[in-house]
Amino acid sequence: MIFRTIDYFEGKVRIIDQTLLPSIEKYLDLGSVDEVAEAIRSLKVRGAPAIGIAAAYGVLLSLETFLKQTVSDPPPFFFDRTNGKAITAGSEPDMRSVRVKLLQAIDILGATRPTAVNLFHALDRMRKIVEREDLDIHLFCGKMKEEAFRIFDEEIETELKMGEYGSSLLKDGMSVLTHCNAGGLATAGYGTALGVIYSAASEGKKIDVFADETRPLFQGSRLTAWEMMKNDIATTVLCDSAAASLISSGKVDLVITGADRVARNGDTANKTGTLTLAIICSKYKIPFYVAAPLSTFDLEAETGAGIVIENRDRDEVVLFQGVKIAPSGVRVYNPAFDVTPASLITAFITEKGLIYCPFDINIEKTFSAGE
Ligand code: MRU
Repeated sequence: MIFRTIDYFEGKVRIIDQTLLPSIEKYLDLGSVDEVAEAIRSLKVRGAPAIGIAAAYGVLLSLETFLKQTVSDPPPFFFDRTNGKAITAGSEPDMRSVRVKLLQAIDILGATRPTAVNLFHALDRMRKIVEREDLDIHLFCGKMKEEAFRIFDEEIETELKMGEYGSSLLKDGMSVLTHCNAGGLATAGYGTALGVIYSAASEGKKIDVFADETRPLFQGSRLTAWEMMKNDIATTVLCDSAAASLISSGKVDLVITGADRVARNGDTANKTGTLTLAIICSKYKIPFYVAAPLSTFDLEAETGAGIVIENRDRDEVVLFQGVKIAPSGVRVYNPAFDVTPASLITAFITEKGLIYCPFDINIEKTFSAGE
């Protein structure tokens, strides 16, 4: 099943509000770049590939808003996948002010969350068009729309390919443990780590899934378990701290997680708690796979030390549904991600196939093969 996580529909960015799941399935139509930025910051839309797409759509939305404010007699919307509208001839805004506006939007979106590199890759792709000087406003609008939708389309294709490669690791009857949510909700709709499981299930393999609840925001129990149940895949939720005893009991065949940023040497940032899992897997000799599209690799980061880790609000840890669960004033440590050293990773599952050790050499080869 492909989830409708994010879409650009009739001049608005449409997302499912992930903070309300699994209790409420509500779609939000975001009408300004500030609303998109807020949705990313508050995790209404989350997961590395999904926030990359949200950022690209956010830039398109900023262009949409600017056109509505500046052209005479604007239509109800300009951009939509199938049904876009043209600017009336004679009321074109000047390209310089369009560029200023869009570069501001890129800065706003770029300041939302620092770790997932997909956000910056998507913004860089949009920026390249914004900075082109050879386009009139009509051609410019066409290119901006094309690029934003292409980012989405490439992502979904990538996820399906990763699923195929990854499913070769799964045999009928195996059990997989995963952390956080790297499924349709976190991506263009199919998933990375969960896409591998969907792919195996679609080939008729029976896979048993264990989902770490993923404190403090419960992406595992709220989102992964929700997706799995929607797809009729047998799933057990566990507290993060129960993963060690589960793995030591031999009930897990392999672990697959997603990633927010992979450095050149294979060190990988992903949701807090991923490192703990990788250490447990190494102790009990269980394979630990990372499913990550190439858009999640950051070749400018030599090692994990070059990855900025987001620290989030203390209230995420000390409050539960508004109720205090720690004494007022206590100090809080709340990094949203941790970095798993490459030495603890068995292989990466990507759209170009599996990448094994030595990661620095093989990551490089995978990228240069695509040039
Ligand atoms: O803070 P979040 O929920 O955005 O963190 C998401 C994760 O860590 C995911 O595992 C990662 O983005 C991979 S999503 C395919």
